[in-house]
Amino acid sequence: MAEKTYDAIVIGGGPGGYPCAIRLGQLKQKVLCIEKDEVGGVCLNWGCVPSKAIIATSHTYEKVKGGAAFGLMVDNPRIDANKLQDWKEGIVKKLTGGVRSLFKSNGVDLLYGEARVSGPKTVMVKTREGTTEVIQATKAIVIATGATTIEIPSFKFDYKQIIGAKEAVSLREVPRRLLVIGGGIIGMELGGAYQHLGSEVTVVEALPNVLTGVDPDVAAVVERLYTKRGAKILKGAKALGYERQRDGSIAVRVDVAGKTETLETDVVLVAVGMRPNGAGLGLEDLGVKVDRGFVPADAAGQTNVPGIYAIGDCSSMPMLAHKATKEGEVVAEVIAGHKAAKDWVAIPSAIFTDPEIATVGLSEQQAKEKGIEVRIGKFPFSVLGRAMAVNETDGFFKVVADKKTKEILGVHIVGPEATDLISEGALALEMHAFLEDVGLTIHPHPTLGEGMMEASLHALGQAIHVMNREVR
Ligand code: NAI
Repeated sequence: MAEKTYDAIVIGGGPGGYPCAIRLGQLKQKVLCIEKDEVGGVCLNWGCVPSKAIIATSHTYEKVKGGAAFGLMVDNPRIDANKLQDWKEGIVKKLTGGVRSLFKSNGVDLLYGEARVSGPKTVMVKTREGTTEVIQATKAIVIATGATTIEIPSFKFDYKQIIGAKEAVSLREVPRRLLVIGGGIIGMELGGAYQHLGSEVTVVEALPNVLTGVDPDVAAVVERLYTKRGAKILKGAKALGYERQRDGSIAVRVDVAGKTETLETDVVLVAVGMRPNGAGLGLEDLGVKVDRGFVPADAAGQTNVPGIYAIGDCSSMPMLAHKATKEGEVVAEVIAGHKAAKDWVAIPSAIFTDPEIATVGLSEQQAKEKGIEVRIGKFPFSVLGRAMAVNETDGFFKVVADKKTKEILGVHIVGPEATDLISEGALALEMHAFLEDVGLTIHPHPTLGEGMMEASLHALGQAIHVMNREVR
C-alpha cells in the first residue's frame, strides 16, 4: 500500500473534474485526478459527444433523403450502423486521448480506480490493477463524480432491448421500432435521431408535455415536426411494464389517461433522468452534507466541510457539462488561493433535437412569475434567406426583455444551429446588454444570426423583415 501526497485530489475526470485538474496544474498545484472508467466522463464517452455524432449523421441522412427538393440527387442512400459506430468511437478516442495528453502537458497525474474519501484530507483508491492506495491532499479534495442514469424497476436494463442512453449511442443496428420512455432531453434528442435513421419512434411521457422546462412555444415546434415525420408522442402516459413476445419483440403496457394500451417495439430506451453520484463516497461519515445524492456547495464551490469541494452534476442542477466545467475552473482558482466565485448571470442550455433548441435566461413565463413586465421580440427562421438556402425554415428566435429598461433577460431559439446561435444570447445576458446593443450590432448577411438582431429589433418595434407590433 503506497502513500502519496498532493495539493489537490480531483475525484472524477468528466467535464467538471478534468478541466478543474488542468486548471490546477496550470496554477502550479500538484494535482491528481482519479477516474474509475475513462477520462471525459459520461459527456465524452457515452453522452454529449457520441450522441452528437449520431445526431449529426442522422441529420445529414435526412437532408440527403430529401435532397431532390434542392437538386441533390442521391440514389439509394442508406445507413451503415457499424461504420457510424466506428466513426463515433474514433471521435471519442481522439477526445479522451486529448484529455490525457493535456493532463501530461499540465503536470496532472491520473490514476484509474474507485475513490472513497476516508478522511478530510485522505482518499483511498481501489485501483484498476486491484491494489489499494491511500493518498493525502494537503489543500483540497474535489468531488466531481457526476450522475447516473435512473432505472425504472419494471424496465430493468438488459442492455440489449431495454437500454439507457449509453447503449442507445452504441447500437450497431438501427432498431425497426424504438419506444422511448421519457420525453425529456435525452428521449427527444435520441428519439429524433433514430427516427431520421429509420426507426418507427414512440415517445411515452408522463407529464402533460414533452421537454418540460423549455418555453412551451419552443417545445411545440419540435413536437409538431416529430409527429409530422411519423413519431407517436403519448403525453400524460406512464409505461407500466412489458412482456417479451415469442418473436423477440417487446410488448409495453402503457397507461394513457387511465386506459392501458399495449405497444409493440423492438427496443425500449429508458430516459427518465439522472441521479447525482454524491452518496456512497464516504462523505457523510465526515460530516459533509449530502442531500438526495447532491453534495451542495457554496459560491466558491466549497461544501460545508472546509477543504472539500463539489462541482458539476453531483453538486447541483442543471446537469450540464458546460456548467460543470466552469465550476471546475472556479474551484481550481479558489484552491490556488485566487479570488473566484460562481457569479455568472445565466447558464445556456442546448438541446440537439431536430430542429435544435437553445435557451438562456428567463422565459416569458418565468419573467412574469417574478413580477417583471416584459417586452417580447420574435423572428421566424422562415424569412431568413440563409435558412431558406439550407432548407431549414422551421422555428423562431424569441427575445425576452425588461419592458422599461429594455435589458435582455432571456433568449429562446428553436431552429437550425440554435445551439451555436445561443452563445450570442449568453454573452448578451452576461454583459447585461440592452435590446439596442444586439439590434444595432451589424450581423453579417446572409446568416442565421441575423434572426437574433431582428428579434431584438422586433421587441423595439423596429424589425425590417416582419411586421412590427405597436410598441409602447
Ligand atoms: P429529463 O429530466 O430531461 O427528462 C426525463 C423525462 O422523463 C421527464 O420529462 C419525465 O417527466 C419523464 N418521466 C419520468 N418517469 C417517467 C415514466 N415512468 N414514464 C414516462 N415518462 C417519465 O432527463 P433525461 O432526458 O434522461 O436527461 C437527463 C439529464 O441529462 C438532464 O438533466 C439533462 O440536463 C442532461 N442532458 C442534457 C443534454 C443537453 O443539454 N443537450 C443532453 C442529454 C442529457
